[in-house]
Parts: sequence; C-alpha cells; structure tokens
Amino acid sequence: MAQAQDIGIGLMGVGVVGSGVATALHEKAGRIEAHVGAPVRLKRVLVRDATKVRPSLPRDVHVTSNADDLLTDRGIAIVVEAMGGEQPAFDYIQRALHTGKHVVTANKEVLAKHGPELFAHAAEHGVSLRFEASVGGGIPIIGPLLSDLLANDLTAVHAIINGTTNYMLTRMAHEGLDYADVLRQAQHLGYAEADPTNDVDGIDAAYKLAILASLAFQTTVRDSDVFREGIRKVTAADFRYAAELGYAIKLLAIGKRVNGSVEARVHPAMVPLARPLAKVDDVLNAVELEGDLVGWAMFEGPGAGSLPTTSAVMGDILRIAEAVASGGRVPAAPRIDRVLPVQPMADLRTKYYLRLRAFDRPGVMARVTKVLGDLQVSLAGVIQKETIHADGVAEIVVTTHAAREADVQEAVRLLGKLDVVREVANLIRVEDTE
Ligand SMILES: NC(=O)c1ccc[n+]([C@@H]2O[C@H](COP(=O)([O-])OP(=O)(O)OC[C@H]3O[C@@H](n4cnc5c(N)ncnc54)[C@H](OP(=O)(O)O)[C@@H]3O)[C@@H](O)[C@H]2O)c1
Repeated sequence: MAQAQDIGIGLMGVGVVGSGVATALHEKAGRIEAHVGAPVRLKRVLVRDATKVRPSLPRDVHVTSNADDLLTDRGIAIVVEAMGGEQPAFDYIQRALHTGKHVVTANKEVLAKHGPELFAHAAEHGVSLRFEASVGGGIPIIGPLLSDLLANDLTAVHAIINGTTNYMLTRMAHEGLDYADVLRQAQHLGYAEADPTNDVDGIDAAYKLAILASLAFQTTVRDSDVFREGIRKVTAADFRYAAELGYAIKLLAIGKRVNGSVEARVHPAMVPLARPLAKVDDVLNAVELEGDLVGWAMFEGPGAGSLPTTSAVMGDILRIAEAVASGGRVPAAPRIDRVLPVQPMADLRTKYYLRLRAFDRPGVMARVTKVLGDLQVSLAGVIQKETIHADGVAEIVVTTHAAREADVQEAVRLLGKLDVVREVANLIRVEDTE
C-alpha cells in the first residue's frame, strides 16, 4: 500500500500557544496519524529571533525569521498563526490564503478587525480558515457556532471572555480588595500584564465579542462597533452593595439581536447571584447563548493558557488535516455577507445601579428622585447608608427599572450638578430581565 503523504505544518510563533502546539504535534504524532490517515508534520516555524534555543521544537524543524521561507514552501498545507497582534499577522494570513494554504489562527485581534475580508479570501481560494482558539481558549465555542447550532436563530450572547478581569473581580468580591490591590496581585501571579490596558479596559473582550456576535447573528460586527467600558471604576463598595442586592459584578460581553439591529457591548454588569454566569469565577471563561431551537446553553472552561489553547488549535488542525488526507472538502470559512445596523448605545434599555456620594441634608432624596423621575427613570430601590463619612457625606445607592441609556446618562450629568451631591461615584448596568 502506498504511504500516505505528509501533511506539512508551518507554525508562525512559538510562544505560549505555539510551543504547546509544537509539543502536541510531536508527542501525539502517532495518535494524530491514526486519526487523520496521514502523518501531520511540523516543517517550519517562524519566530522573531531564529537564534534562540527552542526546547519545544524537534531538531528536524527548520526555524526562520523570514516569513517567505514558510509561505513559499509548497510542502506546507496548513499555516498555524500563533504570533498575535494585527500586523504582520494579518498580512501573513492573507498571503497564506492566497497561496492556497489552509490557516488556523488564535488571533482575536486580526479576526475582530478583518474577519469578513479573510473569510472571503479563504472562500475565493477554496481553503479553510479556522479560529477556535481566538475566543474562550480551550472552550469549544466557535465550532458549535459554525456547525452544531447553525439551525438556530440566536438572539443573545452573554459571555465572560477575559480571564484576567474575571480573576480580579472574583478576588474583589471574595476578599473585599480594591481595584489597585487586586491588579497588583494579578500581575504578581502572571494573570495581568505590566500594562493591563487590553484586559482592564475591555479591549480583549471586545475583540472576542466582535467574533462571537458576527457568527451568532451572521452579520459583520467589528471591534470598533462594540461599546466598551472597563473595570477601573469598580470599587469594594460596589461589591458590598451588589451582594446586598443579590448580584455578582462581572465584566460581561453582551450581544443581542433586537428588532433588526445588533447590540454589542462590553462593560461591568450586575448579574443575579442565582444565574450560572454569576458563579463563573477566577480565570474561567463562559459563553451563554440563547437560540430558538436550543433554548439556553452555556459553555464554560479555561479561557487561556498554553495547554487549553493548544487543545483548540489542534482541533482545528485535525479537522483540516483529515479532509486534506481523505481528499474531502475542508471545513469552509464562515460566510458573513450582511451588515445589520449596530444599535447606538444611547438607545439601550436596561436596568441601572447608581452609587452617589451626597451631603447628609434633609431633602436630598427628594431632589435625587426628582431628577430621575423627570427623565422617566423609575426607581426600583434605594439604599441610604447611615454611615456618614467624616466629611459629612453619605452614600446613596439607587437601582432603577429598565430605562433608556441616554436618559440615565443625562440624569447622571444633572445629579452631578446638584449642590447636595458630592459625586456620582459609579453607574453599573444590571443584566436582569424584568
Ligand atoms: N496565551 C494564551 O493563553 C492565549 C490564549 C488564546 C489565544 N491566544 C492568542 O494566541 C496568539 C499568540 O499568543 P502567545 O501568548 O502564544 O504569544 P507569545 O507567547 O508572545 O508568543 C508570540 C510568538 O510569536 C513570535 N512573533 C511575534 N511577532 C513576530 C513577528 N513579527 N515575526 C515573527 N515571529 C513573531 C514570537 O517570536 P520570539 O519567540 O522570537 O519572540 C513568539 O514566538 C495571540 O494572538 C494571542 O491572542 C493566546
């Protein structure tokens, strides 16, 4: 019997993710060959520094810092991009697709910014573009959206898709720590980078939501379409009140289909404690979906890390390799050819939590409620803390029924101008259907 031809892999990047993939390809070679029906071999890797010793790489692998070596190698059928960043990754992925190579990528930034163009290139050239690792690390979520759930009209996505911030918010909730302390702790443990901007300002979660919402609602949603507010303003006090009111505080990525348009937002949100998402703690991620057929489903698991992410990348490699080896059809790239309007944030209707610091004088509450009432923001509850700060300031927490974002923002502006209000310390949206 003729020996099946090798399926060559070109790996771009041998960092946290790439080294895991290189190791899995090597250590699981027998199992992979048995499944695929042909050997799957790592041929070349691209890195910035080709002189560095790479213990995860077998000795026969060619290491280069010149992308052309990999992109022009006709023995490479699948390019695995695990470098990160928009450029040159976007350029390399495009070139790989143009030269008829299948691509597996873990790169959320490239997909959130250029997904639709890349999907079109892949379709045009009859090649596959898979990206399971780009959202939720080891959690299989892209695969289900691309196949198992396809018959559904999906209406909502609620996700915790940034492990760093979920770790920070969990520690704040459980240990009463403030933002600055918990950030230091997360940096010490290696969960947060020295510059935590991408995580704490919701940029990473917005990339991932753009990908999820595009697939779930079959429309182009880019990262720039996503409303974004990070966790910097959340304090230990907010956690105390949230617990009192029966909520957890999570950085939620929310996508919804509402009357022919799409809602896409990332911000801290109060989630009822009884809801499964409220119990997704530490660095875990979870994606909750609602569809007409499936009803409600939640996917939970490790959102990052070398091995979980390797699991997702390897799944994509195996599916493509299997099709290549059998001469069958490779999994097609998604076809997203419509653009539903993205709902302006001002038109959002949800519930709100407001924490005010006000002077402890008679009539304060009446003036606060008048501002809200004049703007049709109706109150669901009020907590006024008797603890008076040394400066004569008391804390007032107000929760509202569903109201329009523009009206609530106007109320915040007007409340901030009242002479009895020292400051509107925080506003947190409440994800709790009435
Ligand atoms: N880390 C995770 O847990 C995780 C989870 C899900 C998705 N991802 C995604 O996976 C991708 C890789 O992340 P990572 O954490 O593995 O990154 P990383 O540890 O920083 O590794 C990046 C690798 O890419 C190489 N590289 C970077 N820029 C390059 C360039 N311009 N030319 C050639 N090589 C270049 C680096 O080469 P040198 O070694 O020479 O510096 C390094 O080997 C990112 O898109 C990330 O968002 C990561």
